[in-house]
Parts: sequence; C-alpha cells; structure tokens
Amino acid sequence: MKRLGILTGGGDAPGLNAVIRAAVKTAISVYDCEVFGIRNGYDGFLDADGIVPLGLEEVRGILPRGGTILGSANRGNPYARKVMRDGLEVTIDVSNEIVKGIEKLKLDALLVLGGDGTLRIAHELWQKGAPVIGVPKTIDNDIGGTEVTFGFDTALNIATEALDRLHTTAESHHRAMVLELMGRDAGFIALQAGLSGGADVILIPEIPFKFESIMNKIRARAEMGRKFSILAVSEGAKSLEGRQVFSRKGDEIYVPRLGGIGQVVGEYIENQGFESRVTVLGHLQRGGTPTSFDRSLATRYGAAAVRLAAQGGFDRMVALRCGRIADIPLEEATSIPKRVKMDDDAVITARNIGISFGDESKAKKKVEF
Ligand code: F6P
Repeated sequence: MKRLGILTGGGDAPGLNAVIRAAVKTAISVYDCEVFGIRNGYDGFLDADGIVPLGLEEVRGILPRGGTILGSANRGNPYARKVMRDGLEVTIDVSNEIVKGIEKLKLDALLVLGGDGTLRIAHELWQKGAPVIGVPKTIDNDIGGTEVTFGFDTALNIATEALDRLHTTAESHHRAMVLELMGRDAGFIALQAGLSGGADVILIPEIPFKFESIMNKIRARAEMGRKFSILAVSEGAKSLEGRQVFSRKGDEIYVPRLGGIGQVVGEYIENQGFESRVTVLGHLQRGGTPTSFDRSLATRYGAAAVRLAAQGGFDRMVALRCGRIADIPLEEATSIPKRVKMDDDAVITARNIGISFGDESKAKKKVEF
C-alpha cells in the first residue's frame, strides 16, 4: 500500500479528527504511505481543489478538535447530485466520476468515515471497483454490527449535562421540562442520557407513546410531592396514533429533517394544566471536543482501518465487538440499522426504576436475567 485517501461524509461527529490523525500517523510511520485528504466528502473528487496532502504536520494538534479538518457534505451523494443544466436544476449520477477520481489519484485504499448513508455509498462504489474501508461515525449510534460509533459518547455527555441543568430549574419552578434530543430513528441518545440524567419520562422512536401515559406519570409524581418532571424525548419519537414530526420535507437529495416533537409534547402537557417548557438541544450534541472515550475509540478505529487497508480488507468496516476492534462486511453494517431493542437491559432497567416510556408497560414486572 503506497497511497491512501481519507474522506469524511455526512453529518460531523466529535472524533473525526482523531480518526484522521491516527490513520495518517499509522499510514506514514508503519507503512511509509502517502496520504491524501478528500475535502467535503465524495465531492472532493469532483472539485478542482478537493484533494489535499495529509502529512504529520497537517494532523498535529487535532486530536481534541471537534468537527473535521477535511470538511463534510451531508448531501454529497454521488448517485444523486443536483446540477444546473440549460438553466434547469437536474439530478445526475456522478458515481463513475468518483471511481475515476480514485483511480486518477492512484489510491490503493480509501478510508470512508461516515454514517449509514455514506457507508452505503462506499459499498456501492466498491461494487464499481473502489477499494473502500469504512469507519463508523455518528452521534446516533445506529450503525449495525458495531457496539458503538465514535461521537455517541460525546453527545451523551452533552445531553446528560443538559438534563442535569434542566433539573434544577424544573424543581424551582415546578415545571415539566422537555428536552428534545437527536438520534433520527434510533433512541439511543435519549435512552442513555435519560438514564444518566435521571429523566422521569423517556420517549424513543422504538416505543410509540400515549399522551395520557405521559400525563399519568407527571401527575403521579406531583401527587407524591414531586411537582416537576424531566422528559428526554428523541426527535424521532412518535405517539401511537400519530406520526413523526418533521421540520423540513425531504426530496431525492435531502432526507426529511426531524424536529418538533418536543414542542408537541410540551404543548400537550400545558393544555393539561401543567406548566411546561421545551429545550431543543440540537447541534450542541455534535459540536466541540470529543470525550476521552471517543478520542480513544476514534484513534483505535483510525489505526485499525489502515491495518485493514494494508491487508486488502476492502468493502469492510472496522467495528467494536466485545470491546475489541474487529472488522465486518460493509453490507452487514448498513443493511440492518441498529435500533433500541425492547429486551435491551437499559430499557428493562429504566422500567425497573420507574422511568416511563409513555407506553404504560409493566414497570414493576419481574425480569429474569
Ligand atoms: O445523524 C446525525 C444527526 O445529527 C441526527 O441526529 C440529526 O437528525 C441530523 O444529523 C441533523 O442533520 P443536519 O446536520 O443536517 O441538521
């Protein structure tokens, strides 16, 4: 392996720079490789200034930095790229140009740091001959085949701190505080942060809720003298009768943007005569310095991805399995997205300690381990 490319695609996640740093250091010091950064996701192969050399100097000091020094493109799907043709906006497939770009750069391997969308594209590019290796990135933790993605731990810490802060003001004002959290169709952030931050109600996409059940919990607490409640709500949560709430419609380029369920829940609580406030934590969950766990995981992923590339393990993704770095087919990682399971011990534990998922389930039911 002589020439290695690295790109970061999709929404950013804390730890991207740590992966880049570890990959560059390993590629140079162990394999004597030349490394190139592809800017702004797959788009870098199409842009005149889209390729940058990455040496030890370029990665110095980036370990604790959030974001990505390479830039990212959330909508950079080469199979559906919007361009102007004869004054009209049209969608075209430029995937062959990406493959040509990889060949022109004479890359022996391309590390693709991305979430499910970016990694699915990597798998499709492999079918056209691109020597891709995946690295699982996303705060949502929804990629199959790996115990955890980097970025998730940082998002959890930020969400937990937000819940802690909401607690004190909720208690002072006897209010229900709703915190809307990211995660798309996976409830891991709300579930784990809700557990760590002492939420009374956790609403996640995997467990459709009933509005009355939320109120039952809030009222039950009030009757016990706890006149405030904390709700951790996934942006993808939905009621049994309703649908997910979106703040923007999707099209062939843009995925629909989730957002607004926190407000819906907050308004319902207010209409029931209980004062409520809503906080949407938004991109604070993605920004800033990665936690120690994410830095370390990202570093291990970066070095392991280069070792995998050197062995020719293309169309595969590095993954965390039983606490060790392994590798799995990209198809396995992307074909079955990871979701919170009902028998997940975090769900069972939440029920055991009286947290409501808004589904009136048997919180006190005995569970066999
Ligand atoms: O996938 C990561 C994520 O932060 C989701 O949790 C969220 O729904 C989405 O990206 C937001 O995307 P954007 O940065 O385009 O607003």
